Amino acid sequence: MKMDYQFPAGFWWGSAASGPQTEGVFEGDGKGASIWDYWYQQEPEKFFNRVGPEKTSQVYTRYQEDIQLMKETGHTTFRTSIQWSRLLPQGKGEVNQKAVDFYNAYIDELIANGIEPFMNLYHFDMPMALQEKGGWLNRETVDAYVAFAQTCFTLFGDRVKKWFTHNEPIVPVEGGYLYQFHYPNEINMKHAVQVGFHETLASAKAIKVYHEMNLGGEIGIILNLTPSYPRDENDPEDVKAAQIADAFFNRSFLDPAVKGTFPEELVTIVKELDMVPAMEADDLQTIRENTIDLLGINYYQPRRIMKKESPIDQAKSPMPDDYFDNYDMPNKKMNPYRGWEIYEKGIYDILTNTRENYGNIKCYISENGMGVEGEERFVNADGVIEDDYRIEFVSDHLKYVHQAIQEGTNCVGYHMWTCMDNWSWTNAYKNRYGFISVDLANDAKRTVKKSGRWFKEVSDNNGF
Ligand code: BG6
Repeated sequence: MKMDYQFPAGFWWGSAASGPQTEGVFEGDGKGASIWDYWYQQEPEKFFNRVGPEKTSQVYTRYQEDIQLMKETGHTTFRTSIQWSRLLPQGKGEVNQKAVDFYNAYIDELIANGIEPFMNLYHFDMPMALQEKGGWLNRETVDAYVAFAQTCFTLFGDRVKKWFTHNEPIVPVEGGYLYQFHYPNEINMKHAVQVGFHETLASAKAIKVYHEMNLGGEIGIILNLTPSYPRDENDPEDVKAAQIADAFFNRSFLDPAVKGTFPEELVTIVKELDMVPAMEADDLQTIRENTIDLLGINYYQPRRIMKKESPIDQAKSPMPDDYFDNYDMPNKKMNPYRGWEIYEKGIYDILTNTRENYGNIKCYISENGMGVEGEERFVNADGVIEDDYRIEFVSDHLKYVHQAIQEGTNCVGYHMWTCMDNWSWTNAYKNRYGFISVDLANDAKRTVKKSGRWFKEVSDNNGF
């Protein structure tokens, strides 16, 4: 059958998830606490409907059933993460054998069902034992992370051939140290800079170890790239503000990951603020010499920027927002549940940018998706959620991915966020993202949504 949008042979079709959002916590599983377990214990009211990280979707015990559903929804590849606090309950030292058994079984089951596992090493889930000593603020965490990464490569690297050092490393910086939506909820630019630097350094060091181990796979990083569009392209001040926002939120991690250097604008600002992070003599060289093989791109929404017109918030300053204002563009298309703009062409702009300015690095869309509240409204007589809006969302984005590939971008796959409805941090189960629904009131019963059936056809036809 001739497709309107045919993708290159071998294109990866699948979805992404993370350990902390899916596995759950079970008595006797030997898992140590992460910052999420701790924070929930301290302030359960901060989490939507008080649903905490111990519940999630119980993948720890139900992965076999779930992998069958992945097959039914056309997955050829699937990304999740190894929970640091599950494998090393104290963040370093003793390995939890039950975690080794679980991840071995999960990986083997995926492979036996023809689904290639991709593994990420950090998805916002700092072990509490390390957070107590400062988490990413503390240089020792970098060493502990590299040891954790090496343990993962040693244990699972014979079968896992795609590794990622971080998922969205800017988010722990934003959430934990600037905008207060992750533990430890600080507003502290100096800490934010140090945390970001340590994450980048940890990534480069893990890449070095992986390459030295010669395991025959690839290693990369997953970044949430939010293209920054100026309010008025003809206003140089708006344009400059958008460039600074881009340096803070995109190039801060993209440049060191791909080019091994930090963006000039950011370096200048950090120096002006007298907030150059603490580092050792060869750190910059380590970052320069150990760049990624593969880039994962998460795309949900763009960023609309205008020059700074509102007064600087002195109670919080310095903040990235001292240099720009967010622009509330009239008539933008919105996902009202998550409050995020939907701008499909953004995905094309990101891919074009990687082609033109980042050596056309091998990349894939590692997350894209739409969280919707109250999806039970759309259940049909057969108990299936008819999520036509999700099919529209995915196909509208895929058309732009297709166009970028036609123009030569080296994009080799598309992963949806997410496989089955999962626990979204403080939003818990408010917004549902999956191809498969999870009925929390009914023993977490899984049912493939209409979009899951549609995705199977797309995967089988390698296009639509
Ligand atoms: C990405 C993360 O930012 O977006 C996921 O990698 C997250 O962990 C997803 O769940 C959707 O965002 P949210 O905040 O609605 O869960």
